Amino acid sequence: MARTALVTGGSRGIGAAIAKALKAEGCNVAATYAGNDDAAAAFTAETGIQTYKWNVADYDDSAAGIAKVEAEIGPIDIVVANAGITRDAPFHKMTPQQWKEVVDTNLTGVFNTVHPVWNGMRERKFGRVIVISSINGQKGQFAQVNYAATKAGDLGIVKSLAQEGARAGITANAICPGYIATEMVMAVPEKVRESIIGQIPAGRLGEPEEIARCVAFLASDDAGFINGSTISANGAQFFV
Ligand code: CAA
Repeated sequence: MARTALVTGGSRGIGAAIAKALKAEGCNVAATYAGNDDAAAAFTAETGIQTYKWNVADYDDSAAGIAKVEAEIGPIDIVVANAGITRDAPFHKMTPQQWKEVVDTNLTGVFNTVHPVWNGMRERKFGRVIVISSINGQKGQFAQVNYAATKAGDLGIVKSLAQEGARAGITANAICPGYIATEMVMAVPEKVRESIIGQIPAGRLGEPEEIARCVAFLASDDAGFINGSTISANGAQFFV
């Protein structure tokens, strides 16, 4: 039977590649987006993947959106918490607002995405939780105290969920992408980006599809004994 998958931030960047990869694996996929209606409409037209608009930083909004997806597509078997934002600034310039926006979306947003689907997964004795963390949650990053804190926190979430879900057939794993060719990385000043590429032994940015293939594997029935893991996909830039 086809599984149902939810991908937050699934209409652009890494999330769009993940949604497409899960569809190619035979899943019924729902992709969420926060604000860019045109990109979401174009994504649905291109892929046939249904998009839903809600703010992952808001629990009630997330729970209502997830209830709608489950009513229209089916109970969610696979949840990919991918939605994330940056508000980069050196710490001495970082505002409380920049801290809060990133924590609300990248950390609380994972809680808000997984919590509403968790009991259903427990009852059905199957679930796949995949959280898209970051190399910068592993190593820290200049101008990303907020982002690095949330991405490190995401690893704590999956390691704890893995222990709670294991007996119920639920796995929880994280992927830490390195620098991937997406709008988020392209927004970094060109000089800084060139210097980052110089630090990647592979000599290039990663492709969104290289992350999506990791997700498709972790989501598969074959990956049932991989639980609480962190997969680094960063072109050898950093080892844990
Ligand atoms: N390491 C050490 N020093 C650095 C640095 C770094 N990585 N980046 C910048 N600096 C230094 C600059 O050289 C400059 O020093 P001087 O004052 O001596 O010239 C200083 O820090 C920057 O000061 P500014 O006042 O110019 O800083 P700013 O307020 O204009 O902020 C910035 C600029 C936000 C830091 C900008 O350089 C930037 O966006 N950097 C990129 C940060 C980054 O890597 N973000 C990752 C985004 S991609 C992502 O997050 C996806 C993922 O998961 C991998």
